Amino acid sequence: MEIYLDNSATTCPYPEAAKAVADAMMNCYGNPSSLHRMGFEAEKKVKAAREKIAASLGAVPGEVYFTGGGTEGDNISILGGARALKRKGKRIITSKIEHPAVLETFKALESEGFETVYIDTDEHGLIDINQLKSEINDDTVLVSLMHVNNELGTIQPVEEVSKLLTGKNKPLFHIDAVQSFGKLRMKSAVQAADMISMSSHKIHGPKGIGALYIKKGVNIKTPVTGGGQEKGIRSGTENVPGIIGFGVAAELSYRDFDRKIEDMRVVRQYLLDGIRAEIRDVKINSYEDERCAASVLNVSFIGTRGEVLLHMLEENGIYVSTGSACASNKKGQSHVLKAIGLTNDEIEGAIRFSFSEFNTRQEMDIVLEKLKKAVESIRKVTGR
Ligand SMILES: Cc1ncc(COP(=O)(O)O)c(C=O)c1O
Repeated sequence: MEIYLDNSATTCPYPEAAKAVADAMMNCYGNPSSLHRMGFEAEKKVKAAREKIAASLGAVPGEVYFTGGGTEGDNISILGGARALKRKGKRIITSKIEHPAVLETFKALESEGFETVYIDTDEHGLIDINQLKSEINDDTVLVSLMHVNNELGTIQPVEEVSKLLTGKNKPLFHIDAVQSFGKLRMKSAVQAADMISMSSHKIHGPKGIGALYIKKGVNIKTPVTGGGQEKGIRSGTENVPGIIGFGVAAELSYRDFDRKIEDMRVVRQYLLDGIRAEIRDVKINSYEDERCAASVLNVSFIGTRGEVLLHMLEENGIYVSTGSACASNKKGQSHVLKAIGLTNDEIEGAIRFSFSEFNTRQEMDIVLEKLKKAVESIRKVTGR
């Protein structure tokens, strides 16, 4: 028996998506740039997948570019956006709780002379909108914020942010939607943003494929140079099987969407209520209301070590995370939990449960039972 609660790290593929990938590898291996029939067939399938991604965003297909995943989308939009506007200004703004794909890209731009600003958040990871407002000046060319935080689930107020970005020298707004695409409706993000990064493996699609939405009329200077595929934004032979699988996953993610998200929220709440009722000395790090996505719950079990807890749960077939597992530095403290002001003890004992449409309340009964035992046995050793 396996209970997978690490869906913010990655998800199990939909069987339909995996089948589509395998089928494309065997039967649709032409290069979309080739002029013959096999190339044309591959191109047709890429076009159909692009239409599916566009439909799930509420955008037009011409605004969707396939990338190698969320990290690459973040890189292309931030580097490309800032460099395109560098003559207009040098200030770029993000938050302290972004994914390394954003934070490291900002750092890289510092060495090119950009001035970087990192906005604070409250104790659950919501950005300080007043601070953001005061940091935006005439020199600001780009703002990049995540839609949903990968460790806490906090939803950023992207519409409010976009209202701050106005005027003749309007800064570009990039949204890292890797954790929101497939979990939230994207309409408001599409209205708010100039660019949106998404990733397939977070929505039950294949890994190493993603999409970047670039609003019509927005020009960036892409860092990827080469053969000019994806209208020059992301050169390189298209990952046709990945693209097809991603299209299937996007379509399925948004099918019966409201019911699935409501069910996910019920499962999350059930676990949260159970933890509160059955385990003492816990701190809920995620928001408990609609400011948190249905997909994430972050809890500190004071007087335990998250890593030990993780492995004890793993022995019972339950998979969780201590912090962000999609960064390569698996050791070390989470910069997100530090930024929201948790104490060392609270960071040490933090566990992230992240949900998919496949989790059930019955699973949560098992998780609660094993979790309670594990926490108690660790506390016996630590003397809490
Ligand atoms: C918020 C966020 N941005 C970007 C990424 C990177 O996406 P990918 O793994 O597709 O490169 C992740 C991965 O966990 C993420 O959670």
